[in-house]
Amino acid sequence: MPATAKHPSLQPVNATKNDFLPLNGTDYVEFYVGNARQAAYFYRAAFGMKLVAYSGPETGLRDRASYVVEQGKVRFVLTTPLRPDNAIADHIAKHGDGIKDIALWVDDATSAWLETTRRGACSVREPWTLEDKQGTVTMASIATYGDTVHTFVERKNFRGIFLPGFQAVTHDPVARPVGLKYIDHVVGNVGWNEMNTMVDFYRDVMGFEMFQSFDDKDISTEYSALMSKVMSNGNGRVKFPINEPAEGRKKSQIEEYLDFYQGPGAQHLALATDDILTTVSKLREQGVEFLRVPETYYEELESRVGNIDEPMEELKRLNLLVDRDEEGYLLQIFTRPVEDRPTVFFEIIQRKGGRSFGKGNFKALFEAIEREQGLRGNL
Ligand code: FE2
Repeated sequence: MPATAKHPSLQPVNATKNDFLPLNGTDYVEFYVGNARQAAYFYRAAFGMKLVAYSGPETGLRDRASYVVEQGKVRFVLTTPLRPDNAIADHIAKHGDGIKDIALWVDDATSAWLETTRRGACSVREPWTLEDKQGTVTMASIATYGDTVHTFVERKNFRGIFLPGFQAVTHDPVARPVGLKYIDHVVGNVGWNEMNTMVDFYRDVMGFEMFQSFDDKDISTEYSALMSKVMSNGNGRVKFPINEPAEGRKKSQIEEYLDFYQGPGAQHLALATDDILTTVSKLREQGVEFLRVPETYYEELESRVGNIDEPMEELKRLNLLVDRDEEGYLLQIFTRPVEDRPTVFFEIIQRKGGRSFGKGNFKALFEAIEREQGLRGNL
């Protein structure tokens, strides 16, 4: 195992260097799901996303339907196959509902594709252009871990809703927004000894740098362990932690994911808010289920994180987690998996100066995850 540093760099990474892959941020995250109409309803009613666009048979597609839901800068595309003989159906049969595409917003998709493929990225689709009355969007895709892809999206010549060919949905009576602002990070789970391969991929092929790393001593409980390295692009808008399982007395939560997802894939999406007390209160009212940490977590909280703005009673009531680093603190909470396979889940995060990932919470959190793993018979 390579040596890993603790909080090796909290400073912005190569912001001043010549960035061969300038990214404006995450463009959208596309989920392949068994029933996109119902999945869209879940994200609207529970997470408060607003339905803004649709494509399917009514817009001329024969093999799929896609629903686009948004809140702040968070944009999900929920896609389902209409026939069994296509790649979307194959993906769902193998992985269950899951994240297919972590799409990245760029000014030049062709250049992004050329720069990454000539550094060794595996091309999934060469640059192509979609067009309608509202303009053009150029896209290109490369492979990342497992069957997951990154699509580069160049939308500077497009004024319409989402992508050419999508029909706008102007009114959503279901959406109940909760204050979600943007995607803070997207975590990938990979297999034994594969973390460094993916770290090298993000460094060499995409020009990312390591932002933080955690070894199995940071992230272990009595039973199970994992290792993680956080990769960040130059301007810090895109962060991808990569996890792999580590040896423990029992099965790592990462192994449980890999078993049920049938290989590497995106584990969780962290969604940022600037008022986590309100956001999590609303999410709870709307039926989102969160992991629980025990009451005892709050006994040592003040001595660990010092003074914070939020009342302790509210943190306890909402079961929020807090951690502090050199620059400030952060509040976070994790949902239970949002499908029957114990795979994809969400994190809600509010950063108050803190730029780390909640290392001080790992132990309490993983014990909560293991309680659930035990209930599923997978520990
Ligand atoms: Fe996270």
